[in-house]
Amino acid sequence: MNNIIINGKIIDRINSLGGVYRQMSKEIKTFKNSNLENVSYYFGTYFLRSKCHSYSVFSNILSTTSYLNILKNKESIRILDIGSGIGGEFFGLLNSFEKYGLKSKKIYVDLIDANENMAKKFYEYFRYFNNEHNFKCQYNYFICDLNEKNSFSKDIKKMESLINGKYDIILSFNFINELYRVGNDEQNYKILLEECINYLKDDGLIFLSDVCDKVVSRNESNFLPIIMNRELNEFFNENKKFSPLLPIPCMLYLESCKSKTVDCFSQENYFIFKNCLEDLYDNFKVNFKIIAKKDLVSLLKVYFISPMREYYTAITSRGYNVCYNGEVKTYKNLLNNIPKAFKIRGVNESDKMGKNSFKD
Ligand SMILES: C[S@@+](CC[C@H](N)C(=O)[O-])C[C@H]1O[C@@H](n2cnc3c(N)ncnc32)[C@H](O)[C@@H]1O
Repeated sequence: MNNIIINGKIIDRINSLGGVYRQMSKEIKTFKNSNLENVSYYFGTYFLRSKCHSYSVFSNILSTTSYLNILKNKESIRILDIGSGIGGEFFGLLNSFEKYGLKSKKIYVDLIDANENMAKKFYEYFRYFNNEHNFKCQYNYFICDLNEKNSFSKDIKKMESLINGKYDIILSFNFINELYRVGNDEQNYKILLEECINYLKDDGLIFLSDVCDKVVSRNESNFLPIIMNRELNEFFNENKKFSPLLPIPCMLYLESCKSKTVDCFSQENYFIFKNCLEDLYDNFKVNFKIIAKKDLVSLLKVYFISPMREYYTAITSRGYNVCYNGEVKTYKNLLNNIPKAFKIRGVNESDKMGKNSFKD
């Protein structure tokens, strides 16, 4: 579980820019064609989740590993966001940059999404955000359908003509599930990663995150975290230079994982509080992976507190999923000292309070 405290003013700000909190019915399979009304619900609800999630994970990485120094030594930071919507994950990343002294960097971000209404909201939010925060940031927002005729493998190639150069950070949040929901049964997570690695710098990170829902699928499993794990196992098998950084057990047991053939999955719960821990505002579940070249993973891994044998990877109605020496087991109860798969406990941790809060 992960607690994030936000300043209530951010909710006022989102509302003043047209956001409305309303969880959307599962009948909406994709936001690709959403009108302004549905985009305002998206903005008022899911945008903040992506922002908090990205902020929390990057704050953890920047506060515990030498990744902060890698970024500090760069003149500029290039970011790509695929299926960006209003870019919650990008703004959360900027919040973490601000917290860890990276605000003076030049930032270039390319965002890709099919929905112009999402782009319009992004422009509005960006204007407000940068008035307040003054990042040296330039963006390109590309409107592009990456699954036009239910062929993601073909349409993702459109990115080649839109963007040029390589990126330090590639984000894709809550995008791939929509391809499965509209009936594209290709290996969409794998296709995305195979394309992204062409655009990733040697010291770059890919942050792939998605919802933990079931989808109608011809695949054997229809639970998205299981589909993601299966496809990523294949990806890592075929792309030996790459490794997960998070979840930690997937990184530690990449070669010796004993659960590749069972339906292993990971899932993290987030709780957003308004102003203080007594005022719960929202909660959500996600499954995510941070992926990088093995050389970078080895460099960052030395900052992790010495590897444990057990990590808990998910809380489900059946209990706690624990990865024990590369093998997943389910326990009814969990011993207190089993660390989380998604959270780096660093030897040089500067964020010792474990407190996770941001103003906007
Ligand atoms: C659930 S939203 C996620 C937005 C943002 N990444 C976030 O987490 O807040 C999914 C986004 O994927 C976009 N999308 C869906 N299908 C797409 C496609 N075929 N090509 C490009 N974008 C697409 C939608 O327009 C929407 O903005």
